[in-house]
Amino acid sequence: MTTWCDAKTAVQVVESGNNVYLQGMSLTPTPLIEALVARGEELRNVELYTILMFGPIPYTDPRWVGHFHVNVLFVGAFDRPAVNAGRASYIPIYLSSIPKLFLPGGPVPLDVAFIQVSPPDKHGFCSMGPSVDFSRAAVDHARQVVALVNPNVPRVYGHGFVHVSRLDYAVKWDRPIYEVKGEVPDETQRVIGRYAAELIEDGSTLQLGIGAIPDAALQALTDRRDLGIHTEMFSDGVIDLVERGVITGARKVRDRGKMVTCFVMGSHRLMDFLDNNPMVKMYPVTYTNNPQIIRQFDHFVSVNSALQVDLTGQVCAESIGTIQYSGVGGQMDFMRGAALAPHGRPILALSATARAPKTGAGTPSYPYALTPVDGQISRIVPILTPGAAVTTTRAHVHYVVTEYGRTMLLGRSLAERARSLIALAAPQFREQLERAAYNLHLFS
Ligand code: COA
Repeated sequence: MTTWCDAKTAVQVVESGNNVYLQGMSLTPTPLIEALVARGEELRNVELYTILMFGPIPYTDPRWVGHFHVNVLFVGAFDRPAVNAGRASYIPIYLSSIPKLFLPGGPVPLDVAFIQVSPPDKHGFCSMGPSVDFSRAAVDHARQVVALVNPNVPRVYGHGFVHVSRLDYAVKWDRPIYEVKGEVPDETQRVIGRYAAELIEDGSTLQLGIGAIPDAALQALTDRRDLGIHTEMFSDGVIDLVERGVITGARKVRDRGKMVTCFVMGSHRLMDFLDNNPMVKMYPVTYTNNPQIIRQFDHFVSVNSALQVDLTGQVCAESIGTIQYSGVGGQMDFMRGAALAPHGRPILALSATARAPKTGAGTPSYPYALTPVDGQISRIVPILTPGAAVTTTRAHVHYVVTEYGRTMLLGRSLAERARSLIALAAPQFREQLERAAYNLHLFS
């Protein structure tokens, strides 16, 4: 039985000590969050679980310590300051494992899920539009579901439908959902995109990760034929390739003719593209990110990015030293799946340099640290910055691409890896890297 009410009434369902899931990204249910936090004084020890929230997140304000505590499963720009100030906890986890947390008997039994959905259709089904991912598991397993019901949420085919009777509390809401305006790739990113795209053959099935470089790779694929999409997420970059007839999915071994994903982040134009589009299917992350599914695609290509790669091939994609930047995400799910697929190609693509951090910009004080040059630091490093997390291990890494070229690390020794990665570093850092490689005994 659904109670239609306002946000203030709906959030009364939350009690002290509850575990509450908040849907994230474009569907972040901000009015419910604000109504919940307005009740903060009367609540204690409410545990929130979030992934890539958009918009204000007032529960991280220091005044709510002891009232709300947030567990962040993938960090974004809005919660990064709170995570790194110790006012929010980060949980490292593969995206594909998140639903496991919410299963009966799992470590995080959910009391309440806050979501946002489209209005019900004539059969009573609402759509979770661009965010099925882990929200499917949250809706299926939470004791109570509270939803914003918003006509601006696109209706998307696949497994994101929720019958209105599953909503314990429904709040009518009519505002645009959060939009992500993609950045136009710069020249460096375009070069990297082209090197990555050279590894993508006609008929390949693609996963393109988060960030500007995967979109740059898409832009370099306009002359390919019959590409398919089986991915964790996509953004605006795919629309052009669908309109040009490049993405058809015609050769996919599963979900032929369909673009399969578990979430989508992009512009309102992209949301229009999703709406009632039979070509797009949204599935839970347990399907999209399952390496056993991914490995079934012939010529599966996975393009992901990184913050640092060390000379042995260890990849950090989620932290800058001890600063938590993003999360494990689906990187390893896809790197492994692509590696197991027949003719599969896992690709890590990153620019060779980054801007040197403003604070403490001299030579960092740990062994083998490189000296910044002209305000730039190298993202190819002798050893990862102390505290950096290894997101993809050196045994999993295959192709690495920068604007200086491309290398294949599978089956290569540490010395061979160091040599080929130095060749992919920016020229102004190569001498420092060579010296460090000798000192680390990577070269005999
Ligand atoms: N040291 C210090 N700062 C660094 C750095 C380094 N080694 N590398 C990058 N940075 C800075 C950049 O200068 C940039 O700063 P700015 O925001 O002030 O411009 C910022 O960190 C982000 O770097 P950028 O290269 O622009 O990141 P991106 O948006 O392309 O995202 C990842 C790259 C790796 C963070 C992103 O792909 C990610 O989170 N990956 C993990 C999850 C994943 O791969 N999922 C795959 C399936 S979707």
